[in-house]
Amino acid sequence: MDVTVSVIKADVGSVGGHTRPSDELLDAVRQRVEAERGGLLLDARVFFCGDDISILMTHQRPPGDEAIHRVAWEAFQAGTEVAKRQGLYGAGQDLLKDAFSGNVRGLGPQVAELALRERPNEALMILAADKTEPGAFNLPLYLAFADPMYSPGLLLSEELHAGFRFVIMDVEHTEGDRLITLDAPERLYDIAALLRDTHRYVIAGIWSRKYPDEQAVAVSTTRLRQIAGRYVGKDDPVAIVRVQKIFPATEEFGPPFALGAFVAGDTRGSHNLPLLPVPVNTPASTFFCHPMVAALGFSLRDGKLTGPVDLFADPVWEPIRHRIVAKALGMRQQGFFQPAMLPFSELEYGGITARLKRLDAEFRVEASRD
Ligand code: 13P
Ligand code: 13P
Ligand code: MG
Ligand code: MG
Ligand code: MG
Repeated sequence: MDVTVSVIKADVGSVGGHTRPSDELLDAVRQRVEAERGGLLLDARVFFCGDDISILMTHQRPPGDEAIHRVAWEAFQAGTEVAKRQGLYGAGQDLLKDAFSGNVRGLGPQVAELALRERPNEALMILAADKTEPGAFNLPLYLAFADPMYSPGLLLSEELHAGFRFVIMDVEHTEGDRLITLDAPERLYDIAALLRDTHRYVIAGIWSRKYPDEQAVAVSTTRLRQIAGRYVGKDDPVAIVRVQKIFPATEEFGPPFALGAFVAGDTRGSHNLPLLPVPVNTPASTFFCHPMVAALGFSLRDGKLTGPVDLFADPVWEPIRHRIVAKALGMRQQGFFQPAMLPFSELEYGGITARLKRLDAEFRVEASRD
């Protein structure tokens, strides 16, 4: 069966700061989505990571479909109404435009969509992050899909032997999508040269090379500042990752995420902190505003989802979390000094711009002393 998996995610308000949506807000979103079950939608789930609500939908419309996107938009609008009524923080934060115009792309929510022909045992994983940027998935996905040190299937499985095709987006580009397609392993160093710059070059998709019609990964790529022209919260990406058989196995994503790679995010979206794997429906903490990621495992048959399995919830992740939090503490001990706080190029959409402009006027140029 041909099925499209869509995940549309937005922050429309949270309790006591940028923590988590209220139960009533979640109910309002769920209600709008559930009304489509058995009609437009084959199946659906609603969950949160920090203050961001993800709507996972399976259906038979193509990616970018107006009716599907409208359901998500209306669900987030219904959530916003509750958020306003309850005085939640950042009510409607990620709904940057007033009117729906055929598609939520460019309106604020994050979107990841993947069209697939179901395998007899279709296994997939949803990654939902908070307090970080779309490039936060670059390193873990690179390690799982291109590095045999982390992904033994690249050596052990004939299905993975040919490697994977990476589609990478230049997210600084604003008119249309600027994309490059590079094959691993032949172009590994070119892929690495781009992906290291997580603010600008973001994995948008990954495809099998042995089965070129099979898409493994879809990542959301929205940069909110490019829509709003100012800081309006972090981009907080989502991704759909198909796993097993012709793709890396679920357990091949463990070591890449256990790294706790430093990513942009944290308080006011302005710092570098390690990405912390957390259970699904974890609120953001008072302790900084840690970049975090949840992973949900599902099986899919005839468009119906079984699951989720909460992939970062088991006890193995506890000592890993301790180590990653220790890394975070080390970084934040140096306060605003780089690289704890991001360079100005990444802060230019925030309030510091005005301060720098005033300072600029106080500079004077003197004759060289040497
Ligand atoms: P099982 O025998 O538990 O299915 O092991 C499968 C496997 O190889 C996991 O990597
Ligand atoms: P989000 O609302 O995008 O999660 O980030 C808010 C923020 O900047 C917290 O400091
Ligand atoms: Mg928020
Ligand atoms: Mg958020
Ligand atoms: Mg955000």
